[in-house]
Amino acid sequence: MIHSARILMVGLGNMGGAMVEGFLAKGVAPANITALDSAPAAKEKAAQWGIEMIQKPEDLAHTPHFIILAVKPQVMDVVAPAYKHLVSEGVCFLSVAAGQTIEKLKGYLAPQARIIRAMPNTPAAVGAGMTVLCGTPNLAVEQMAVAEALMACVGEVAWIEDEHLMNAVTAVSGSGPAYFFRMMEALEAAALAQGLPADVARKLAVQTAYGAGKLAAERTGTSPTDLRVAVTSPGGTTEAGLKALDAHNFTQTVSAAVEAATARGNQLG
Ligand SMILES: NC(=O)c1ccc[n+]([C@@H]2O[C@H](COP(=O)([O-])OP(=O)(O)OC[C@H]3O[C@@H](n4cnc5c(N)ncnc54)[C@H](OP(=O)(O)O)[C@@H]3O)[C@@H](O)[C@H]2O)c1
Repeated sequence: MIHSARILMVGLGNMGGAMVEGFLAKGVAPANITALDSAPAAKEKAAQWGIEMIQKPEDLAHTPHFIILAVKPQVMDVVAPAYKHLVSEGVCFLSVAAGQTIEKLKGYLAPQARIIRAMPNTPAAVGAGMTVLCGTPNLAVEQMAVAEALMACVGEVAWIEDEHLMNAVTAVSGSGPAYFFRMMEALEAAALAQGLPADVARKLAVQTAYGAGKLAAERTGTSPTDLRVAVTSPGGTTEAGLKALDAHNFTQTVSAAVEAATARGNQLG
């Protein structure tokens, strides 16, 4: 399905580059990917991957099926209108830019443009991303399926119908990696405080987060609550630790973080 799609990647930075790496790893032919990005680092990456680079939209040899807009949100108003002339039923625009609403993108392109707004996150760089998609009602089923398969090259994918929930998505999975990094920092500091050597403390914090995440992601039939209960013996060490977390309002603290991030997203929007 993704193998016959012609893709134009506009912006080959951190996210655009991670996506192209994911596509290639899943067998998309380099010949089906074209990129546009003037940064010298982008040219080097394109040469390494064997994908074509063009200087301007007019240089395209064929109309792409997917135009992926992976530039910074603040330049989208300048970048997106350059693809206006390519708006048609057969072209799907997929934007990964944070905070750029479908309405804004339609304004840059055309009211009838077929658009998918995606919110990926940084673990996409290692193929373990979480992307949430939301699209215009005029998308063909096939376009939605290919877009989903493309984003699945860099991790898991979910759809939402109500675009207003994108700020909540951003607050949970977009900002979420930073919450887990904070947890790792705290666990590392606590391990040091207990006298563990620095290299061991770091390894314990990172590998424990990775292992817990992998276990929760792979045991799809088991909820995080069930996993927690399974490792918590009554009267044991884990229970003592969890009680201390609860005494310090761990759940309410996480909820406050998501509320604050959602509110900030609403403000910025
Ligand atoms: N990184 C993430 O984990 C992440 C997560 C979620 C969403 N996103 C979204 O992904 C988008 C890209 O973020 P990023 O972190 O990948 O940024 P980035 O590393 O700065 O990449 C953007 C690339 O676009 C290039 N560019 C600038 N103007 C262009 C133009 N007119 N045509 C083509 N390319 C152009 C930039 O070149 P110059 O450097 O020369 O300007 C740069 O190479 C953002 O909208 C962001 O909200 C990123």
